[in-house]
Amino acid sequence: MLFLATMKRRNFIQHLCPALTITQIALLSSSCQTEEEPMLPATTEEEKEFKRISALFNADGFLIEGKTVFVNLAHKNFVKLGDISGFSNVIEAGILLLKTDANTIKAFDNCCPHQGARGSWVLANGRFKCENHGNSYNTTEVNLVGCDSNSITGGLVRYPVTLYKTYLKVVKS
Ligand code: FES
Repeated sequence: MLFLATMKRRNFIQHLCPALTITQIALLSSSCQTEEEPMLPATTEEEKEFKRISALFNADGFLIEGKTVFVNLAHKNFVKLGDISGFSNVIEAGILLLKTDANTIKAFDNCCPHQGARGSWVLANGRFKCENHGNSYNTTEVNLVGCDSNSITGGLVRYPVTLYKTYLKVVKS
């Protein structure tokens, strides 16, 4: 009886929708082929680097590798960068970070163009002011002036950055 019922059901399906049955067979065949292939997600260079760096950040949330600085934006030291006009001076890494709009964080050389101080920056009217002697410098890359060049005006040198997930990569020139 069971065999008879199975045969009737198969005949019924083949009679009613042969095209569907063929499609189902094709899909089944295709999914079997997929299962034989490796199911690893596509791994980008950024993802590989992210995984490597994630284990290496120091207790302050950054990592220096030669002229490259990685910053963990999820670290409590960088919460200010969540707000527009928020900034963070990573003194040991030589960078000054500034969030200029919802999607942009700029990185600058934190060496004052006047006499090279690195730890006295405040932000006022969109310019960084070094409180060592009170000179201020633009963040718009106009009339760039270098570290310790005795310049009392001009713009801070900007470094290129890339953002991937929660880490910011700064390449110092
Ligand atoms: S060292 Fe910065 S203003 Fe003089």
